Amino acid sequence: MSHDPTGEGAQTDFRSAMSYGDYLDLASVLGAQHPRSNDHNEMLFIVQHQTSELWMKLMLHELRAALHRIRADDLPSAFKMLARVSRIMEQLVHAWDVLSTMTPSEYSHLRPHLGSSSGFQSWQYREIEFLLGNKNAAMLKPHGHEPELVEHLERALGAPSLYDETLLLLVRRGFDHDRSQRDWRAPYEASSVVESAWMTIYRAPEQYWSLYELAEELVDLEDAFRQWRFRHVTTVERIIGFKRGTGGTAGVSYLRRMLDVVLFPELWTVRTAL
Ligand code: HEM
Repeated sequence: MSHDPTGEGAQTDFRSAMSYGDYLDLASVLGAQHPRSNDHNEMLFIVQHQTSELWMKLMLHELRAALHRIRADDLPSAFKMLARVSRIMEQLVHAWDVLSTMTPSEYSHLRPHLGSSSGFQSWQYREIEFLLGNKNAAMLKPHGHEPELVEHLERALGAPSLYDETLLLLVRRGFDHDRSQRDWRAPYEASSVVESAWMTIYRAPEQYWSLYELAEELVDLEDAFRQWRFRHVTTVERIIGFKRGTGGTAGVSYLRRMLDVVLFPELWTVRTAL
């Protein structure tokens, strides 16, 4: 005879109690998949993008909080949040394994239904890039038709990034350098003075343990982000080859250029100099 868990007291009457679906608003979340074709594979395409956006939402939540914690000199809390962001990014790296089961023939059935929509227009992704320090005002252009969104992204573009906040922390900890005042909207340019500061820290980790730990958290994060970019471009190449993207860029060659982005440059160059 099958076991009836209600005998152990499992709740079954939700006329006035909050259920799992109520708490998670599953009616909205699971009602938000609207395939535009009858193609079997479109559901994979939609769910993969939507779940990525949900994880990005959590990443932004953690990143914004980590920035505040660093500004408040509360590094242990920031470490916890940054570690979580790296794990989310790693999870998204593994998610490409699911999408890579889609063949070029399968994608070509969907392609006409995608119009000019593309991850290139993901505003959460752009905000993550701005928070991490890849500042580029041109990336606001695809959002020109949504002024509130532009305003929101402008705020992230014009504020110190995670790396800027880290370098301001270095100043508070006695490492004077030439990047504590700069145009936050501009792309970050590497500085030999900042590299020397990191050099001092990496040469005496036990003396500067929390700064050393922060540096390694940032490297973990950039490492995971690089892997995400790499799996994206490789998956894209196996699905569409060198065709143009739905967003209008040259496709794989654009994405390959993005592999050259370096978020925390001196944390990489210091390794050669050490
Ligand atoms: C069949 C699957 C996919 C293909 C063929 C594809 C293709 C592309 C291409 C060609 C671009 C360059 C912009 C353009 O011209 O469209 C791009 C950008 C982008 N895609 Fe994908 N993509 C796929 C899946 C995904 C998924 C699952 C995500 C997760 C959210 C994603 C997120 C992004 C983001 C954020 C960008 C902007 C990258 C940047 O500007 O650095 N893509 N994609």
